[in-house]
Amino acid sequence: MGKDEIIKEIRKLSDLLTLYQDSYYKEGVSQVSDREYDRLFDRLLTLEREHPELALPDSPTLRVGSDLTNDFPEVDHTIPVLSLDKAYTTGEILSWIEKTAAKSSRDLTFSIEEKIDGSSIVLYYENGILTRAVTRGNGMRGNDITANVKTIRSVPLRLTENVTIAVRGEIFLPVESFSKINSLMETPYANPRNLAAGTLRRLKSSEVAAVPLDIFIYEGFLEESGRNHVEILLYLESLGFKISSRIGVFGAQRKPFSEITQKWFCGTFEDIPDYIDRAVVERDSLPYEIDGLVVKVNEIDVREELGYTGHHPRWAIAYKFESPEGETTVRSIDVQVGRTGRITPVARVDAVSIGGSTISNVTLHNQDYINMLELSIGDRVVVSRRGDVIPAVERVTEKNEAGEPVWKMPETCPSCGEPLVKNGAHHFCINPECPAQVKGRIFHFIGRDQMDIENFGPETAEFLIHKGYISGIGDLYFFNYDLLENEPGFGKKKIELIKQGLEKSRNVPYRRVLPSLGIPELGKKAAQLLIDAGFNSIDSLLELALKKDTDALLAIKGVGEKTAGTILDELRREENIRLIEELKKAGLNFEEEKKDLEDVPVQSFESQVWCVTGSFENFKPRSRAVEEIEKRGGRSTSSVTGKTTHLLAGENAGSKLAKARQLGVRIVSEEEFMEMLKEGEPQ
Ligand code: IVH
Repeated sequence: MGKDEIIKEIRKLSDLLTLYQDSYYKEGVSQVSDREYDRLFDRLLTLEREHPELALPDSPTLRVGSDLTNDFPEVDHTIPVLSLDKAYTTGEILSWIEKTAAKSSRDLTFSIEEKIDGSSIVLYYENGILTRAVTRGNGMRGNDITANVKTIRSVPLRLTENVTIAVRGEIFLPVESFSKINSLMETPYANPRNLAAGTLRRLKSSEVAAVPLDIFIYEGFLEESGRNHVEILLYLESLGFKISSRIGVFGAQRKPFSEITQKWFCGTFEDIPDYIDRAVVERDSLPYEIDGLVVKVNEIDVREELGYTGHHPRWAIAYKFESPEGETTVRSIDVQVGRTGRITPVARVDAVSIGGSTISNVTLHNQDYINMLELSIGDRVVVSRRGDVIPAVERVTEKNEAGEPVWKMPETCPSCGEPLVKNGAHHFCINPECPAQVKGRIFHFIGRDQMDIENFGPETAEFLIHKGYISGIGDLYFFNYDLLENEPGFGKKKIELIKQGLEKSRNVPYRRVLPSLGIPELGKKAAQLLIDAGFNSIDSLLELALKKDTDALLAIKGVGEKTAGTILDELRREENIRLIEELKKAGLNFEEEKKDLEDVPVQSFESQVWCVTGSFENFKPRSRAVEEIEKRGGRSTSSVTGKTTHLLAGENAGSKLAKARQLGVRIVSEEEFMEMLKEGEPQ
């Protein structure tokens, strides 16, 4: 095939696939069969691999990323990338607007936008093609993360006009996707921003493509155009950029905005206090997180007159919502080995009180996250703790004086000394006999949310492991506990209680035994899905594993490729097969009893979204209440949002109760809940 023909075919395939992608992602319409799509896509990939010099800069293959390792060279910004001055009260904002308006002889107008809580990015386009995506960095230079940003569907690779421009925006992860992804993580992220920021630093763009990041553009840098800021935003929208629809524009009179009233709220200065109040109330029901509002002068030429201080423009100000934060110093960074072998760095910080609780350990997730923070031991950091979520290091405020370099993961496992292996964002210890992993698996198994073995807490487990009495889950049922009689703290009575606890655990139903095994991807949800689909014994799963019949699992709604593959791979592993045999011998339930199956209650909570907060008499831990909700077809979320239909409020329900009241969510007491559970039951 001649070069011209190849160019032609690449162009044709790119156009067609872009069309299909756009109609799928923007309108939700599939124009071709998956098979045909894959065929065209593979053909384009092959041509691009054979002739990399002919690949188009806006090729649809860029959306899925690549497995080649990126690096993120530092590049200079060609526009000033400033940050904002801050205010913390509506009063400060109103007086800033008044003062700023008084500085100009003209009648000024102001925009009020949401301050999206994500990762700041500058996109550079040349002749309509995205050429560079650069992080803010220090404002002068940032990291070039173009390949990663190109995977974000809402970032246009080619504009509708061949213009050369720069725009600024915020990349974010919608809260719903965040909850979904985060719930699968062993050490969850504190907020969507951290997960988004960590993702953007991934070395393989294919891994970025797997996370549904999104973007809002909020500033455009055009040559003299005579347009004001909101007109620029409209123009950017016509070029293909995603602009928030939640913007307010305010002037002395409402009149000048006839053109934009369709899209945005337009009002007079008197409307501003109400607008801000409403934005604060609506904050929690948005599909993305915001951490404040940004007020900007709308007239571009006046912006230039007002000018800049060293680090921020005088024509804009951020109204920051209160967020509980504290400043402290990182004293050391330890690494923890989880039950799956995953390594998690944890910062030990000087104790600091945030929102009423004392924090001295903060998870740092992984090396990518530490690189993103550029964190070293001895640095001063801001730690936040929003609501009842885990604390997070937000940023470094002062580098250590000793010149410590950015912290680096050790090369070997701190528990067993084997070399660590990087997989995705995380490092792993892949030695299944690693003592830290064994301990993690035992702790998981006996834990409250799993087997919940009575009278057998982590201290007992720790002691037995330490003494070498047990070295795996199976041993729990075969150890002769009478041998403990001579150990300090183990009287006859205590030993009897331990035995009773283990005895009782033999009756735990299969649906709880299965996720207690600690098999990756086989948590509570997956276990329930498998059982509901008729795989109601371990033998039925082992059989699938032997046959490598992933299709049987993929046929179950809610079970994806990764879950199906991992579960079956794991069930072929010798250690897991041995463990299952041991536990069968011990008399644990490896089959869901028929009676249990018939017990499926009426789906009386179908399409309801519940949030559970506070503590309960009849549901300890409160995840038991969540189980009841899910059994009846309801969904549960960890926070109250616009989608929440019911709040189950126990003793000491705090901020969630207030929020539910604000949003008019139905509030249900424990007593009422018990009634509702009964109602759905067959008579
Ligand atoms: S304007 C000079 N508008 O907030 C103009 N910033 O320090 C500066 N942000 O990390 C920014 N939403 O990425 C502006 N609607 C918005 C914004 C916004 C989020 C971020 C921005 C930066 C920080 C401002």
